[in-house]
Amino acid sequence: MNKQEYIDIAEESLLHTYNRFKLVLDKGDGVYLYDTDGKKYLDFAAGIAVFAFGYNNKEYNNALKEQIDKLIHTSNLYYNVPSLMAAKRLKEITKMDRVFFTNSGTEAIEGAIKTARKYAFNKDGKNDHEIIAMKHSFHGRSMGALSVTGNEKYQEAFKPLIGGVKFADYNDLDSVKALVNDKTCAIILEPIQGEGGIYPANEEFIKGIKEICDEKDILLIFDEIQCGMGRSGKMFAHEYYGVKPDILTLAKALGCGIPVGAFITNEKAAVLVPGDHGTTYGGNPLACTAINKVLDLFENTDVLNNVNEVSKYMEEKFDALTEKYDFVKGHRGKGLMQGLILDIPVGEVVTKSIEKGLIVISAGSDVLRFVPPLIITKENVDEMYNIIDSVFESFNKK
Ligand SMILES: Cc1ncc(COP(=O)(O)O)c(C=O)c1O
Repeated sequence: MNKQEYIDIAEESLLHTYNRFKLVLDKGDGVYLYDTDGKKYLDFAAGIAVFAFGYNNKEYNNALKEQIDKLIHTSNLYYNVPSLMAAKRLKEITKMDRVFFTNSGTEAIEGAIKTARKYAFNKDGKNDHEIIAMKHSFHGRSMGALSVTGNEKYQEAFKPLIGGVKFADYNDLDSVKALVNDKTCAIILEPIQGEGGIYPANEEFIKGIKEICDEKDILLIFDEIQCGMGRSGKMFAHEYYGVKPDILTLAKALGCGIPVGAFITNEKAAVLVPGDHGTTYGGNPLACTAINKVLDLFENTDVLNNVNEVSKYMEEKFDALTEKYDFVKGHRGKGLMQGLILDIPVGEVVTKSIEKGLIVISAGSDVLRFVPPLIITKENVDEMYNIIDSVFESFNKK
């Protein structure tokens, strides 16, 4: 079958929830992907910040293959070794206390929301608690996560969403303070906003929110589904601010391709008890083998140093692009979570980059997003730069 025939099948069979790029991917190796025609692409999207250690990583693949032959699934009615080891290790690296495994990011957010509601219910027995979330945030597509996602476009057709959610301006402490009241049970935010356009939080903002939470006994939820797991140059982005959340949500690079997420609480927020929450698949042996192998790879490789070194180089290249093209307005981000701010249609840039063999994605309305595998090299950055430069040239000539 040729590419168009594959696309035709997809368009006839899949629910049309995505306007996909005309690319049928077939296999991956390291930081490269190949389509069904054998064309090679440098991947600066990593399956939306997922494939931290690249494709076809033998150590990761072999661990999964071994576990498939041993035990894939058990349910949560029994213990299994990969899940208890993954939980223990996550406790150690987050310095938090209790782990609940989910199958996706959005489910991790659901668990965080339920935890916040239960925490407040335990205190006063009331059902009128409120959550403060941020404008331009993204937390997922299930009803609870959508309710705290600060993007009216995603919410509009699905109302009524869960009640009691208020939206503050990101990086504006006063706008948060104005919404806090006796009913507030949680404040949820991404330490670096991803989908909203790659906005890192200011230190005063995060520290100020932490103070409010401590003072009023409000739970602080950090969504590190995109910015966590080494992407920012630290294992968790909140380490930049020296502020720990009560609940941390993870997914994406936590499993590096196997669908898995987690919400992790401190002891104070560990309020869910038997009957409150559950999942058939969450934390199954296969998914947790992926997590354990990802944690091995973080432990046994120099990947965080690589993120810091290569991202500095990437930022220099972005400075050069900002200097060279009037329509490049600057860049922002941390580590290998970077956005180039553009005054030309970002979708067109993405399409042209793909035609030239580079996979990048957008974020917000005017940002070209770079979330490559964490193992990329400076040579890969040069390769990316040359393609982006030639794409930008074509806009100059318009
Ligand atoms: C910060 C953040 N939270 C939550 C989600 C939802 O994760 P998932 O798509 O795995 O449900 C995403 C996905 O992009 C995200 O970036």
